[in-house]
Amino acid sequence: MAVRVRPCHVRDAKGRELEGRMTALVNSSGPFNAVFGPSSSQHAVYSVCGSQLLHGVLDEGLSGCMFAFGSTGSGKTHSMIGASGGQSRDVLDGVIPQLTDDLFIRVNRLEADAAAQSLRFVVMASFVEVLEDRAFDLLGNPGSGAATARKPSLDIRSLGGRIVAYGAAEVPVSSTSALLRLVAQGAQARATRATGVHDHSSRSHAILTLAIERRWKRATDGATLSRVAQLQLVDLAGVSALCVKNRS
Ligand SMILES: Nc1ncnc2c1ncn2[C@@H]1O[C@H](COP(=O)(O)OP(=O)(O)O)[C@@H](O)[C@H]1O
Ligand SMILES: [Mg+2]
Repeated sequence: MAVRVRPCHVRDAKGRELEGRMTALVNSSGPFNAVFGPSSSQHAVYSVCGSQLLHGVLDEGLSGCMFAFGSTGSGKTHSMIGASGGQSRDVLDGVIPQLTDDLFIRVNRLEADAAAQSLRFVVMASFVEVLEDRAFDLLGNPGSGAATARKPSLDIRSLGGRIVAYGAAEVPVSSTSALLRLVAQGAQARATRATGVHDHSSRSHAILTLAIERRWKRATDGATLSRVAQLQLVDLAGVSALCVKNRS
C-alpha cells in the first residue's frame, strides 16, 4: 500500500480551495510500503505503484488491481487519471495513461520479438460504475453519453468466488488515446446520470478493467493457445461519502 499527500492549496472544479487531505493508492496485499509527499510527481507514483502491476500482467501472466482510496478532494482521480481527465497528455498524466503507454509499447515489442510464434495481444476495455449495490455500464452506447446513462443496471452475480457484472460492453483498444476517449465517454455517462443527484461521482466507484489476452501458436502442433490476465484500475467513492451512508 502507498500513501500520497496532495499539496494543501489546490482548487476544485468550481474554484473552491480544498483542505489538505491524503489519498491512499493501494496496489498490493503486502504491508504499507511507500509515501509520496505533496511535491511528488505523477511519474514517481506510477513507477512505484503502476509499473510493477504491468510487469505482473505481461511477464508473469498475473491479474492485478489497483485502487485509489481517500476522501473527496484528496486526489484520487488526479492520481489515477490526471489533470483534465487525461485529455491533455503531459507530466500530469496519472497512472492509467502512463500504464497504457507502457502497455502498448511493451506489447508491440513482445509481438515483434516473438513473431515466429505468431504472438498477438488483444486488449479489451470495460468501464463500470458501482453505486450502492448496483452496477452500470459506462461504455454501452458509444457516442451517446445520455443514452448510456439511461441504461438499466447490470446483472451482478457471484461466479467461482468472483463478483461479476454481466453485460458490460467490452471495447477493443490499441492505443492510450483510444482508451482515454473511452474514459472520457464513461465520465460523460457518469456525469449525465448524476443530474439531480447530489455529489453523485464522489458516492460511486469507477472500475476500469483491461482484459489482456495473449495468443500464440504452439511450436509442436501449431495449435493456437491463449491466456487472459485482467487489470482493474479503480477510482473509489470518497471515504466521507461512504461514512455518511453508513450512519444513515
Ligand atoms: N498531487 C496533486 N498535485 C496537484 N494537484 C492535485 C494533486 N492531487 C489533487 N490535486 C487537485 O486537487 C483537486 C481534487 O483532486 P481530485 O483528484 O479531483 O480528488 P478526488 O478524486 O479524490 O475527489 C483537483 O483540482 C486536482 O487537480
Ligand atoms: Mg474523483
